[in-house]
Amino acid sequence: MNHFLDIHTTTAPDLRAIIDNARAMKDARKGRPRGMADDDQPLSGHMVALIFEKPSTRTRVSFDVGVRQMGGQTMVLSGKEMQLGHGETIADTARVLSRYVDLIMIRTFEEATLLEMAEHATVPVINGLTNRTHPCQIMADIMTYEEHRGPIAGKKVVWCGDGNNVFASFAHAAGQFGFDLSFTGPETLDPERTWLDFAASKGHPVTIERNPDRAVEGADLVVTDTWVSMHDPESAKERRHNQLRAYQVNEALMARAKPDALFMHCLPAHRNDEATSAVMDGPHSVIFDEAENRLHAQKAVMRWCLGR
Ligand code: CP
Ligand code: NVA
Repeated sequence: MNHFLDIHTTTAPDLRAIIDNARAMKDARKGRPRGMADDDQPLSGHMVALIFEKPSTRTRVSFDVGVRQMGGQTMVLSGKEMQLGHGETIADTARVLSRYVDLIMIRTFEEATLLEMAEHATVPVINGLTNRTHPCQIMADIMTYEEHRGPIAGKKVVWCGDGNNVFASFAHAAGQFGFDLSFTGPETLDPERTWLDFAASKGHPVTIERNPDRAVEGADLVVTDTWVSMHDPESAKERRHNQLRAYQVNEALMARAKPDALFMHCLPAHRNDEATSAVMDGPHSVIFDEAENRLHAQKAVMRWCLGR
């Protein structure tokens, strides 16, 4: 069963094939209206369940549009409105959904929920973000980097801020795609050791540099994310702002990276907190290409899952 659960649990050749396929599918539909079908209809006759236990704009719309472009149908389900949100087990939900649909995408809180869904589903399951990882996002990010600057292997990628779920998938990708990742942020928000261990085990240890000015020197890509994630308590906001203010990506910081460095943010952003609008809308930024590439990358992920 080809579940797409994480970057580190998918093989490097498969990840590469998915990105290449995403690129080809994007090229093949250049200039078409968004609602027009692809020439290829690999999901014809297929039903896809999209389950959200957290809010979403990009993941929700890009999966939905992607399935339709490939000839399939979708059903968007809110966790709260399902029996899942009222005590039915994840295992039973997985068994039942597998009798109706051909593919399940789930955005949830605990990673254990995703893993249990995958264990009991008899159709492929895709990780649409958990508290710990966000693999679909990083597939789009790698695709975006390579579209602008060529192979990411050997490049210097600097993450500024919270060592969160999106960082985790970058750390996994550093190992799988072979780039050098640096983390700059406060010790209190350091990433989990296991994520760093994975990158190191593949010969790409993550550098930790507390000083953001030093960290971004020579960077090919600077990345940040919200200071308060969906799974973080709202009460953490003020403390996090105090901890992270020094790691804001602004024009002065970007000026220390390579002149042709790119800037990424998975969005949604809190403008002028983690990154200034001058950077987000400036010449280094590819944030809306990233958002667009969620569509293309996930279409390729779904094809891979279904072997089509
Ligand atoms: N980047 C991302 O996953 O965005 P959404 O929360 O809008 O899906
Ligand atoms: N780290 C963010 C990413 C949102 C796409 C969150 O989990 O809320």
